[in-house]
Amino acid sequence: MAEDVAENTAGLMSKPPASGADRVPFGSRPASIHFDVFTLFPEMFGGPLQASMLKRAQEMGSLSVALHDIREYANDKHHVTDEPPYGGGGGMVMKAEPVFCAVEAVLSGSEPGQDGEDSEPPVILLTPQGRLFSQEIARELAGQRRIALVCGRYEGVDERVRQHLATDELSIGDYVLTGGELAALVVIDAVTRLVPGVLGAPRAVVEDSHVDGLLEGPHYTRPRAFRGWEVPDILLSGDHGAVARWRREEALRRTFERRPELLGQARLTPQDREFLLRLLEEAQRGRSA
Ligand code: ADE
Repeated sequence: MAEDVAENTAGLMSKPPASGADRVPFGSRPASIHFDVFTLFPEMFGGPLQASMLKRAQEMGSLSVALHDIREYANDKHHVTDEPPYGGGGGMVMKAEPVFCAVEAVLSGSEPGQDGEDSEPPVILLTPQGRLFSQEIARELAGQRRIALVCGRYEGVDERVRQHLATDELSIGDYVLTGGELAALVVIDAVTRLVPGVLGAPRAVVEDSHVDGLLEGPHYTRPRAFRGWEVPDILLSGDHGAVARWRREEALRRTFERRPELLGQARLTPQDREFLLRLLEEAQRGRSA
């Protein structure tokens, strides 16, 4: 059954990594990660998984994704996956049984082509009620070899999925999508780029927005002048120390202006704090002028 999905989505079905332990010691990341995605709409994954970095990561063996169609695990003749809610009210609720059957079959290794070695991967339900996905959570998840993602649909998912199957629930933001599929793709993307070797330049990961709690500052590339807009002189100075200081200050400035609430949690040096104090004084002077 999962193989059919693979054919329909141009070979995205793949096996979990054959080797080793399912948990990795803190601080070291495995060089590959496998996602089992449980969804009613596997066709939503084809495009994003077949382009750019996610495509490359799969070609390099750093990423594998197996799409499992929940409908295939509904036992009745019509493969029903949703029913009206008990107690009345509008909308439909995703049934527990097909979701349980799908996840249990795949994770227990009874699914053809699964080796069952990774016995307890996290089972993450994508839902607007989950904890808010962040760079920190992406970093945590990048330490796993295998992760199961369950995409909710309709108006909700039977509560027993949350209580007795999911080990975690994630939301990608305070808005409601039509289902968890796009959220699952966001998680796959953010986690995969942290797998060693996936990004060409490891420094880029260190300098990412949110890595040290700050937004990234501006970037420029050729030409030096575009429609009369010049690249800041400092970036052409060849003075690496001055460039690093400028970048840091621009990151601080951007965070201060756009997401000041992040500064409370950011890792700041005494020099950073001095700079922020200057920005604050400037802002206060601007307001009183
Ligand atoms: N499903 C619907 N909305 C969602 C959201 N914001 N995050 C994760 N899953 C969702």
